[in-house]
Amino acid sequence: MLEVPEKVLVTEAAIAEKVRELGARITRDYAGRSPVLIGVLKGSFVFLADLVRAIDLPVTVEFLGVQSYGDATESSGVVRITLDLARPVAGRDVLIVEDIIDTGLTCRYLFEQIEARGPSSLKMCALLHKPARTRVPVQIDYLGFTIPDEFVVGYGLDAAQKYRNLKDLRVLES
Ligand code: PRP
Repeated sequence: MLEVPEKVLVTEAAIAEKVRELGARITRDYAGRSPVLIGVLKGSFVFLADLVRAIDLPVTVEFLGVQSYGDATESSGVVRITLDLARPVAGRDVLIVEDIIDTGLTCRYLFEQIEARGPSSLKMCALLHKPARTRVPVQIDYLGFTIPDEFVVGYGLDAAQKYRNLKDLRVLES
């Protein structure tokens, strides 16, 4: 059995409602186009799976693996690619999908990396933003929730690779 942290930050129902809203906005904003959603592994896989089903457009999906934390709870500040995109994104409308923006270092790195590949547009969608810890300016075009400076797990987010399978977002109290 998985022992689940008690404190719920965002319920399953609130997440589902927000995903529907984001999907509707993306559908309107990209009307007539076929954006490619890039899921940033691993944390975004649950959010991305729900988000694509809330978008009524001919989207395509790619994945990019990055690691910034390792198994520590603090950002190392060092971002590395663990899995590169399988297809070119030149000339495409690219929407990066992240689970959380914390220091913003991963986000900045992703923008630089993808911009260099010549997309026709590039935007960021993040489920969570933790502004108290953000160290570099970030542009989040589609944001789910702004959250306090707490260690959040569930709905794709982990602590030492655990808890990604929780249906809601919970606070891991130390
Ligand atoms: C998380 C998250 C972002 C990054 C954000 O990934 O998915 O990619 O941290 O942090 P930052 O704004 O401080 O750069 P993590 O390294 O925990 O890996 P994971 O997605 O595999 O869990």
